[in-house]
Amino acid sequence: MSKKHLDKIVSLCKRKGFVFPNSEIYGGLKASYDYGPLGVDLKRAISEKWWKAMTHNSNIVGLDSSIMVHPDVWEASGHVANFNDPMTDNKDNKKRYRIDDLLLQQKNKVIDALCEMISIENNNDNDTIDKISSTLLNDANKYNDALESAGVIDPFSGNVGKWTQATQFNLMFKTNAGPSEKTGKSIYLRPETAQGIYINYLLVQNSMRLKVPFGIAQTGKAFRNEIIARNFIFRTREFEQMEMQYFVHPSEDESSMTFWKKQRMDFYSSELGISNENLKFHQHSRDALAHYAKDAFDIEYHFPFGWGEVEGIHNRTDFDLKEHEKLSGKNMMYFDAIKNEKYHPYIIETSTGLNRLFLMVLCEAYHEDTENNRIVLKLPFDLAPNKIVVCPLLKKDGLPDKAKEIFDIVSSEHKCIYDEQGSIGKRYYRQDEAGTPFGITIDHETLDNNTVTIRERDSMEQHRISIDKILEFVSKNK
Ligand code: GAP
Repeated sequence: MSKKHLDKIVSLCKRKGFVFPNSEIYGGLKASYDYGPLGVDLKRAISEKWWKAMTHNSNIVGLDSSIMVHPDVWEASGHVANFNDPMTDNKDNKKRYRIDDLLLQQKNKVIDALCEMISIENNNDNDTIDKISSTLLNDANKYNDALESAGVIDPFSGNVGKWTQATQFNLMFKTNAGPSEKTGKSIYLRPETAQGIYINYLLVQNSMRLKVPFGIAQTGKAFRNEIIARNFIFRTREFEQMEMQYFVHPSEDESSMTFWKKQRMDFYSSELGISNENLKFHQHSRDALAHYAKDAFDIEYHFPFGWGEVEGIHNRTDFDLKEHEKLSGKNMMYFDAIKNEKYHPYIIETSTGLNRLFLMVLCEAYHEDTENNRIVLKLPFDLAPNKIVVCPLLKKDGLPDKAKEIFDIVSSEHKCIYDEQGSIGKRYYRQDEAGTPFGITIDHETLDNNTVTIRERDSMEQHRISIDKILEFVSKNK
């Protein structure tokens, strides 16, 4: 799939009611999107799969903590000091870039020149880019003109830019809630849902009488003031995370990482229908680890614009709990009554973005069937917003009444849609683009012998079956 497929997917999303640009009547708000009728259902279906995989029949419980929390949470977590991206400005046109993002858009000879300047090897990978970015930031004075001397091009103007030295840009959105003015501290919109879990972990553990190992799962909005938000819904400033924090004995951290890496990778193929060749792990190099992590793996998907992270699996050690203990003065240790042992559990985190999974599912499902001149969204049955379209062949001869009777039968079990507008072929193609797996046509023969035609979206095969066998057919062939 090439980058132009992304444009086609963006256009399909708007046309079919999956995703709309936000505030369009006012000219739009960059990198902000609204989910339309089909989008909401698809997003919920993905989120429900995740929730079920995490919390059904397991030692993982749910939580729904606030978006705004005490400002000290972000001091303790290190986000106030460390949740920064290195950025640079073009002095001429004042365009601002995230340095790693800017470097990803450069020719290899530019990256070679930067590698030579800071004495590292160019391995043509993201780690090389991360190393350059962090070196330019950590030694900003020494390398203040590195970007310019290496000939880094401004993608906006197409010319070599006059770049400012690398500086930090904190990604948290600040706001002024009432009490923050009194204390002189800013309230932040949460940049991750994880901290809400850490500050509540002992309340959850006590109320549910949980024993280590156990997990706490949470889904909800997170906010980051991304310097560059791009690639449709891949990187936006407001997004939804689905995070699970697994509390383990410190001696079990590595085996738990191994376990969760496998669980999470399996989830993508078994629950979301993603093919294995489009998925891979990427281990973070030491230089690129987040401030809280001892070890980190991303699960990456092969998007039309290249490989991109959909999930992070992190060994956060006891960093967060200890930092909260230090700043709050409250004991954050777990007590194991059987072993009579007190300790700070280590935390293995699985953290994914719902909007990225949504985009991944759409990219995987998008097919251009050139033979039949149609676009098909091959969504797995469980994820498809509508499962069956019910169509009377004609809008007369009692066919709509019979079709509505059949609609009532099938919609008792599945979310269905009724369509009597246009030719039957056009109606099927409309639903192929929306990912609806089955189409049922009611014709004159239906009135004679109570049979219908049922059509499968992907193969376009049609079968004549009796009305009382429709639900059985769907459950066997979904
Ligand atoms: N609590 C750990 C954490 O937040 P992360 O790797 O920064 O880790 C986890 O983020 C996931 O959240 C990412 O894998 C991605 O799916 C999603 N995510 C992060 N930033 C995002 C953004 N600006 N837009 C959409 N999704 C984002």
